[in-house]
Amino acid sequence: MKAAIVSTGSYLPERRVHNDDLARIMDTSDEWIFSRTGIRYRHIADESEAASDLAVQAATRALERSRTKADQLDMIILATSTPDFMGLPSTAAIVQDRLQAGKAAAMDVVAACSGFVYALDTARAFIESGSAARILVVGSEVYSKILNWDDRTTAVLFGDGAGAVVVEAVPDDHGSCIAQAILRAEGAGAETLYRSHGGTRYAYVPGQTHESELKLQMDGRAVYMFAVRAVGAVIQELLERESLVFDDVDWVIPHQANVRILTETAKRRGYDLDRFYVNIEQVANTSAASIPIALDEMVSTGKLTRGMRIMTVGFGSGLTYGGTIIRW
Ligand code: COA
Repeated sequence: MKAAIVSTGSYLPERRVHNDDLARIMDTSDEWIFSRTGIRYRHIADESEAASDLAVQAATRALERSRTKADQLDMIILATSTPDFMGLPSTAAIVQDRLQAGKAAAMDVVAACSGFVYALDTARAFIESGSAARILVVGSEVYSKILNWDDRTTAVLFGDGAGAVVVEAVPDDHGSCIAQAILRAEGAGAETLYRSHGGTRYAYVPGQTHESELKLQMDGRAVYMFAVRAVGAVIQELLERESLVFDDVDWVIPHQANVRILTETAKRRGYDLDRFYVNIEQVANTSAASIPIALDEMVSTGKLTRGMRIMTVGFGSGLTYGGTIIRW
């Protein structure tokens, strides 16, 4: 048995915020943000919306498109670093209830912006082992609620959103499948992108813990350098494993963090930048949701069609990174 993505879905919160809107509340500008990152807009969830709400919307669309009933799902794997509740219960369990996926196991995957790639490869492994036949994989994030809005170096980079795919068991000779996957971590870089306080290492202490310590903190330059190295390494290893050259790949769908990371990777490795799908201008960095949102957008606009060979590449906090080769 192999595993194939049979449908996609996505959801972006209604509120769309331009760089100029941010420039009204912090010391920044459209020119700075766009030239440094390629970002112009991001969607921001309203106060009542949590990760599970976005996930349910994206998942419902993906299920409808493959005519899958929620009670046919064996498992829901949800990648998020902005869960509804801290640590427990999983956001996947909340989605399982909301979808009425009566026989589905449910678990979260925490691998930040690599989360979707980690979750997708987990789904592939369950399906190829015969333990599951139909799995819903979701990336859903509400970063707006963990950002320090007084820190212009991080606040301008992220947006909210969710993307979902249905992964099914298919025969070995089926045209579509997840053909290769690489998952890696470099935990020594844990503190380059993290929330330092509020966990069990530095628990929240009333009167002592500063609010900013509960929010996302980042060493932007270190993350940038890691990302350029990781994206290039994953693409190269995936190509070697399948005995391919870059031109054999129709699209690379990278995690959308910063267009400069992609430009620099393409330049260093001699890859054609036009093969990288980029939608960061419209949605900013939606972490674990960015790749499935991009996949859904590409399917909807006819850019991604059956038979194509694509790569997904994720990288982020952990530090973690990874990628897949998919026969669409
Ligand atoms: N608006 C205006 N100025 C800003 C700003 C903003 N939003 N954010 C930072 N600056 C300022 C800095 O304060 C600094 O000013 P100074 O020179 O007076 O101290 C100046 O811009 C340059 O800052 P620097 O951090 O050197 O910019 P940079 O060119 O390295 O770009 C990032 C910063 C964050 C865009 C870049 O490091 C990056 O993209 N890193 C990767 C981040 C990422 O993608 N994280 C998620 C990975 S999943």
